Amino acid sequence: MLSALRPRPSAQKLAVIGDPIAHSLSPVLQNFLIRHFDLPFAYEALHIRPAELPNMMQRLRLGEFGGINVTLPHKQAVLSYLDGIDSTAKKIGAVNTIAAETTGIIGYNTDVLGLLRSFEAAGLAIAGKRLLVLGAGGAARAAILALLITRARQIVLCNRSPERAETAMMSFANYAGRDQLQTIAWPDRIVWMEKNMPDIIINTTSLGMHPHIDASPLPHHVFSQQMTVIDLVYNPLQTVFLQTARAAGAKTINGLGMLIYQGVAALELWSQQKLDIRSIYSNVEKELQRAQQQITSNEQPATSNQTA
Ligand SMILES: NC(=O)c1ccc[n+]([C@@H]2O[C@H](COP(=O)([O-])OP(=O)(O)OC[C@H]3O[C@@H](n4cnc5c(N)ncnc54)[C@H](OP(=O)(O)O)[C@@H]3O)[C@@H](O)[C@H]2O)c1
Repeated sequence: MLSALRPRPSAQKLAVIGDPIAHSLSPVLQNFLIRHFDLPFAYEALHIRPAELPNMMQRLRLGEFGGINVTLPHKQAVLSYLDGIDSTAKKIGAVNTIAAETTGIIGYNTDVLGLLRSFEAAGLAIAGKRLLVLGAGGAARAAILALLITRARQIVLCNRSPERAETAMMSFANYAGRDQLQTIAWPDRIVWMEKNMPDIIINTTSLGMHPHIDASPLPHHVFSQQMTVIDLVYNPLQTVFLQTARAAGAKTINGLGMLIYQGVAALELWSQQKLDIRSIYSNVEKELQRAQQQITSNEQPATSNQTA
C-alpha cells in the first residue's frame, strides 16, 4: 500500500508556491489525482517568500520542475518572469499555473475553467441570468470572465474598495455588451438586493473564510427561493453566507467544485491529457474535506474580528 504513495523514481517534480502555504489543499488534490491516473509526477508545497521568487523562477526555467501552481501573493508577480501568457491569464492579469514547455515557461489561469466546469457539474446555466458579484480581487476577475463567456445578461460588481470594482469593470469593458457590466457601492448592496432580486449571487470576497467564520457579506433577509447563491470560499465549506441562503430556500454551491476543477485543468496542462474525474469526484471531495479538517485542527484557535 505504501509503495502506491511513493512517487516513481523518474517522476517529474511539480509544486505549489505561496506565502503562507501550509493551508494549501493543492498537494492533497494533485497527489490524489496523480495516483489515480498513474501519472509520472510528484507534487509538493513550497513556502516561497517574495524575495525568493526570482530564484524559484530560475529553478523552473532550468528544468527542475515540469510545472507549478502559484498562489498568494505571487499570482501577479510571476508575470514578469514568463516567456508566454495565455489569453485567459492575460485578461485576468494573474497566473495560477505555469507549465515548462518547449517554447519556455508559460503562464495560465485555470480558475475560469474551474468555475465553468463547477457550474456545469452543478447543472447551473448562466446565459440570460442577472448576477451580483461581491468582491473585485483575483477570484472576482476569474468569475467575471466566466460569466461573460457564458453570456450572463447582467453582471453587477460590488466591492468594499470602489476603485477596485471600477478597475475590474474597465478591464473587461471590451468583452462586455452595453450595460452588461455595472458597479454598485458596497454600502448600497443590501438595498440593491431588496429592490433587484438577482438570479445568482457569487461571493468572491474572503468574508466568512476561516478563522473569521461568523462574517457574511449579506444578511439573511435578502435571499429567496428563486436564487442560486455561490460562495467561492471553501474553508469552511458551509459558510454563514451559504447557510443563511439555504435556510431561505435558495440553491447553494460551495467553492470546492471550483477548487477541484481548476486543479484538474492544471494537471491536464502538465500531463497533456484530458482527465475525466466523474467517477472519483466524491472521493476527491472526501479526501479534501478530511485534509482541511486536519489543517484546521492543527492551527491555533483564533477569535473572529472580521466584519463586512
Ligand atoms: N474555490 C476556489 O477555487 C477559489 C479560487 C480562488 C479564490 N478563492 C477564494 O476567494 C476568496 C478571495 O480570493 P482572491 O484571490 O480574490 O483574494 P483577493 O484578490 O485578496 O481579494 C479579496 C477580496 O475580498 C474583499 N474583502 C476582504 N476582506 C473584506 C472585508 N472585511 N469586507 C469586505 N470585503 C472584503 C476584498 O475587498 P477590497 O478590494 O476592498 O480589499 C477583495 O474584493 C478567498 O476566500 C479565496 O480562498 C477560491
